[in-house]
Amino acid sequence: MNKREQDLSGKTYLVTGANSGIGLEAAKNFASRGATTLIVSRDKTRGEDARQAIIEHSANAQVYLYIADFSLLRSVNKLADSILAQHPTIHALCNNAGGSNAVRTVTSEGFETTFVSNHLGGFLLTMRLLPALRSAAQSGIARVVFTSSYGHKHSPLNFDDLGLSKNYKTLKAYGRSKLMNLLTARELQKRCDDYNIVASSFHPGAVRTPIWTKGGPVARILGIVLKPFMVSIEQGADTLIWLASSDADESVGANGHYFVKRQRAAIAPFASDEAAEKLWNHSIDLVAPYLS
Ligand SMILES: NC(=O)c1ccc[n+]([C@@H]2O[C@H](COP(=O)([O-])OP(=O)(O)OC[C@H]3O[C@@H](n4cnc5c(N)ncnc54)[C@H](OP(=O)(O)O)[C@@H]3O)[C@@H](O)[C@H]2O)c1
Repeated sequence: MNKREQDLSGKTYLVTGANSGIGLEAAKNFASRGATTLIVSRDKTRGEDARQAIIEHSANAQVYLYIADFSLLRSVNKLADSILAQHPTIHALCNNAGGSNAVRTVTSEGFETTFVSNHLGGFLLTMRLLPALRSAAQSGIARVVFTSSYGHKHSPLNFDDLGLSKNYKTLKAYGRSKLMNLLTARELQKRCDDYNIVASSFHPGAVRTPIWTKGGPVARILGIVLKPFMVSIEQGADTLIWLASSDADESVGANGHYFVKRQRAAIAPFASDEAAEKLWNHSIDLVAPYLS
């Protein structure tokens, strides 16, 4: 643990997309600082390897693996059930799982894959875990951090076709999902202001993680072009770790905002309050079957 970092003993931190890249790095940090660390992976073997790596790195055995596929709401719903049964108090939720898809596919539940994997799955998890976050917020600040991206500036949302049934492009679908992450943080803050819950989003930089090898040719080419400018995974995870675990005074200022390198940063002009509210209402309708 770095001298300036707070001890997280007695706290419970949850990181999605934690078997790789930025999420794995953040989970190692939280566990090293004493947090009970819940990690989510869609694959049992990759998840168990990550759990072992985190325990080895942190010498903290309180690291628990959950399996869920964020492209399927029923899987996310089951995940929320298991977490709430075992960990009714959660101090930080890091909605970090995400990626891009070369071609448009629709899940068995009828959603475009990037939309549900990067936005709606995390949205449902957040809604379901609100009671656990509120429980933590009774004795301090609970935080929800969304891993967004500079890519959110790609293009505005088209509410008539959020699933991009026409003119699907890898980067358009990805960029819009990252805009949704930013807007969700903003609207969540508005709706949770009374509960001592601080929401935020951030861009990690162009980071040297496996993400560039997973999204098909466009992601691969972009990965090659950006390679000379990429930062390390440690640097990429820094703002996430800071937003999820810095001193109360610092993080209260996060208040629904978007950060780059620990600083509030400019957002796309179309990342408006109106878009945030509209997306929220639309998302609530879509996940309604899972909310009691
Ligand atoms: N790297 C960058 O330059 C960069 C820049 C801006 C934003 N980001 C964002 O940073 C976050 C972390 O990405 P990373 O760069 O660390 O890449 P990464 O190493 O590929 O990590 C992404 C994580 O998300 C998981 N994931 C993806 N889709 C999922 C699904 N449907 N269900 C469950 N888990 C899923 C991945 O699981 P698998 O290992 O099974 O694929 C992996 O654990 C993402 O949200 C990404 O959009 C990254």
